[in-house]
Amino acid sequence: MNDNDIVVEAWNTVLFDKFLRFKHLIIAGLAGHSDEVLSRPLFSDGDRVLDIGCGFGDSTLKIAGIVGPAGQAVGVDCAENFVHEGKQAASAAGITNASFFTADVQVDDLRGPYDHAFARFGTMFFMLPGAAMRNIRMALKPGGALTQIVWRQREDNPWLHDAELRVREIVPVTSHEETDQLHCGPGPFSMSGPDMVSAMLKSTGYTGIRFERFDTDICIGRNLEDAVEFAMALGPAGEIIRLAESEGERLKPQVALALRETLSRYERKDGVWAPSSTWFVTARNPS
Ligand SMILES: C[S@@+](CC[C@H](N)C(=O)[O-])C[C@H]1O[C@@H](n2cnc3c(N)ncnc32)[C@H](O)[C@@H]1O
Repeated sequence: MNDNDIVVEAWNTVLFDKFLRFKHLIIAGLAGHSDEVLSRPLFSDGDRVLDIGCGFGDSTLKIAGIVGPAGQAVGVDCAENFVHEGKQAASAAGITNASFFTADVQVDDLRGPYDHAFARFGTMFFMLPGAAMRNIRMALKPGGALTQIVWRQREDNPWLHDAELRVREIVPVTSHEETDQLHCGPGPFSMSGPDMVSAMLKSTGYTGIRFERFDTDICIGRNLEDAVEFAMALGPAGEIIRLAESEGERLKPQVALALRETLSRYERKDGVWAPSSTWFVTARNPS
C-alpha cells in the first residue's frame, strides 16, 4: 500500500470505528464551529454545494436544508463506511436533496460543477493537500467559493494539545514514517498556519483568500471518564497510544490517571467543556 492508500484505509477502518464510538461528542462538538458558519448567508436557495470529507454527513444534511428543495448538498468522503452513514441519515430523515459518494478528493472526479465547496475539518488529512485544493477548485463553477473550517494552533486547542503533552510524557512516540500501521495522514493541525495555507490556495489558483478566527468551548465528555476515554482514542494523543501498539495498551491505566488530572480543570456540571479555536478559511475560484 502507498501512503495515501494507508490513510484512506485508516479512515475506513480504525478511525471510523473510533468516530462511531464517540459520535455523540464528535457531531455536537464540531457543530459548535460549523453552526456559526452555516448560520451566515453563505449559500443561496438552489445552490449546489459539495461537503468535503463529510464524515457522518450531519453537516451535509444541514446544508441541504439551507439550499432548499431546488438545491443540492453532496457529501464526499474517501471512506465508504462514512458515506454509508450519510446515506442512512438522509434516508432516515426523509431528506431527498442530499446525496453522498465515495471518492479521494485529491485525485478523483468530484462530480462538479458546484456553486460552493464546504469542509468541516475535512481537509487536514490529505497527503497531497495542493492536489486536493486544485481538484476542488476545478469542481467549482467560475466565481464559486470554498469555505473550510480547520483547527488553529495547538496552544489554542488545549482539549487536544494538553492530552497530547501528557501522553508524550508516558508513551514512547512512533512517527508515521517508522511504522507500517494505518495512520490518519498529516493530522488535525496541518492547516493551522495561515501563511502556508494561503500560499497553497494561491498557488492552486484561488483568489480572495481570507481567514477568520473563531473560538468556542466544546463538550469533550459527558463526564470525566468519557473525556478521558475520548482523549485516549482520538486526536494526536489517541494516535500515539495506538501506534505504540502493545506498549500503548500496557500504559493506558497510567495515561488515564494523568489525563484525569489534566482534563479535570475543564469539568462542569453539564460535562467536560474545553476551549477550542478554528480558522474559517474562505477563497474563490476566479470568474
Ligand atoms: C476529522 S473527519 C471530519 C468529518 C466531518 N466533516 C465532520 O466534521 O464530522 C475527516 C474526514 O475526512 C475524510 N477524508 C480524509 N482524507 C480524505 C480524502 N483524501 N478524500 C476524501 N475524504 C477524506 C475522512 O474519511 C473523514 O471522514
